[in-house]
Amino acid sequence: MNKIKWYLLFSILIVGLTSSGIIDLRDLFNYAHQDIPNYITRTNIPADNPITDGGATLGRVLFYDKGLSFNNKASCAKCHRQFEDFGDTEIISTGAVGPPKRHTMRIGFVGLSEETRAFWNERSNTIEAQSTIPIHDDKEMGFSGKFGQPDFDSLLRKMNATQYYPILFKFVFGDSVITEERMQLAMGQFLRSIRAFDTKYDTGRLAVSNELADFPNFTPQENEGKRLFNTLPKEGGAGCFQCHIPPEFGIRSDIKNNGNIGIIHGPEKFDTAITKAPSLRNLVTPSGKELGPFMHDGKHKTLSQVLDHYISLDKKGPIPNIDPRLVGPDNNIELDEGQKEAVIAFLKTLTSVDVFTGEQWSDPFVNDSLEVIPLMTGVRETLPRYASVSVFPNPSSRRIHFRLPAGYFRLKIIDVHQNTVLSKTIGYRDYVDIEHLRVGTYIIRLDQMNGPYHFISKLLKL
Ligand code: HEC
Ligand code: HEC
Repeated sequence: MNKIKWYLLFSILIVGLTSSGIIDLRDLFNYAHQDIPNYITRTNIPADNPITDGGATLGRVLFYDKGLSFNNKASCAKCHRQFEDFGDTEIISTGAVGPPKRHTMRIGFVGLSEETRAFWNERSNTIEAQSTIPIHDDKEMGFSGKFGQPDFDSLLRKMNATQYYPILFKFVFGDSVITEERMQLAMGQFLRSIRAFDTKYDTGRLAVSNELADFPNFTPQENEGKRLFNTLPKEGGAGCFQCHIPPEFGIRSDIKNNGNIGIIHGPEKFDTAITKAPSLRNLVTPSGKELGPFMHDGKHKTLSQVLDHYISLDKKGPIPNIDPRLVGPDNNIELDEGQKEAVIAFLKTLTSVDVFTGEQWSDPFVNDSLEVIPLMTGVRETLPRYASVSVFPNPSSRRIHFRLPAGYFRLKIIDVHQNTVLSKTIGYRDYVDIEHLRVGTYIIRLDQMNGPYHFISKLLKL
């Protein structure tokens, strides 16, 4: 067996035995310094809530925590699934209790638009304000304080009683107080961090000086689709760029509806206030599956039907609150079958693999549980470059050995609740028995006695 196979086997073993996800605050994913091409300029990241590694990590935990629903059944990810661009291919998702009224929005790339408001009808002013609304909703996550459901304060108490939230809030905000506003800030950071530029489109865009030039890595059909997307109908194009603005493909902020005014349950009234769409990036998965149904009422199962909608608008008569860019002879979208297919081929170049698979956006919980390894504050690891330290075997079930620079060390083994479970003076070639420790994650702290060296390491007890 090669190294990777052993490693995999080993990881499965550890995860199986410890039965909980682990976040190590000393070893966070990079959210703050993502690789962003310089042509990406439209974002709705507020100046007072930039993306940080710690904040987005907390946001990730909140996003995947089923404990944020009153019956521990639904996390945000129940409806916003990573493998579906953080959307849902059911017309209507079921939450903790019942379905919401509209089709779930895909939230990959939610941070890349000039539009700062959230929801299909933009009724929420910011992503932050939006992010806790589903928790209050009696049908989604159920901390509504109504119909016999618990209120938000009881959620805050529930979070306080976990191992991980007090540590995470302290790490991100300086103290362990949990508030709704802090939850919103962290979720805002996590949601906006969901973006990656490993697409065929971005490879092509990087190779040319402007959006309108043919991309060298595109097929003629994809270049034709791009040209149609970026050309006004009166010049023979499809005019999509007017509202879904490249190169981010987020929605324009000052538009009216696109003529799709249905509602999911029945035709008795119309939903004419829809002026937001998710990014047009990631409309299909990396394997080419379309992530329909599309639009707020999930009426269009395929991209072909989406295009038919735009092409047939002129035959529909007056539509209340429709955007003027879609009305009148100058704005008639006329595409033949080949042109339709070209636009769809172009839309398919906008898919990122990383967004669907990136571990930094994946579920940190294992078996619904999570442990956070706290930072040891007040200790700076000080080891000379040449000093070699080894603690082995690690993971271990019975005994760990130490090879340390000369002298005696104070050893502390600390559990994730920050309790010292073992404290002992050891020599520089020494071992301790750990058989009696509970299976799980620990921190080993070594302070040299009468010397300058401090050392911290993670220990997995099997
Ligand atoms: C029961 C399914 C469900 C759950 C659970 C859920 N959502 Fe949603 N989400 C939706 C639907 C449906 C919409 C669109 C609703 C609308 O516009 O009326 C939406 C919209 C959003 C948007 C707006 C995106 C945009 O571009 O404007 C964000 C952000 C979002 N959800 C984040 C979250 C977060 C964070 C959570 C967890 C706290 C969550 N959602 C839980 C179904 C769900
Ligand atoms: C006047 C502005 C406007 C123009 C022009 C426009 N759109 Fe849209 N588009 C919207 C709005 C608003 C929505 C959300 C509508 C809804 O949910 O009912 C939307 C939704 C979509 C969706 C569904 C996204 C999803 O996640 O469900 C796709 C795909 C789409 N448009 C593609 C296109 C294409 C392709 C073109 C060009 C032929 C185009 N649009 C032209 C405003 C526009």
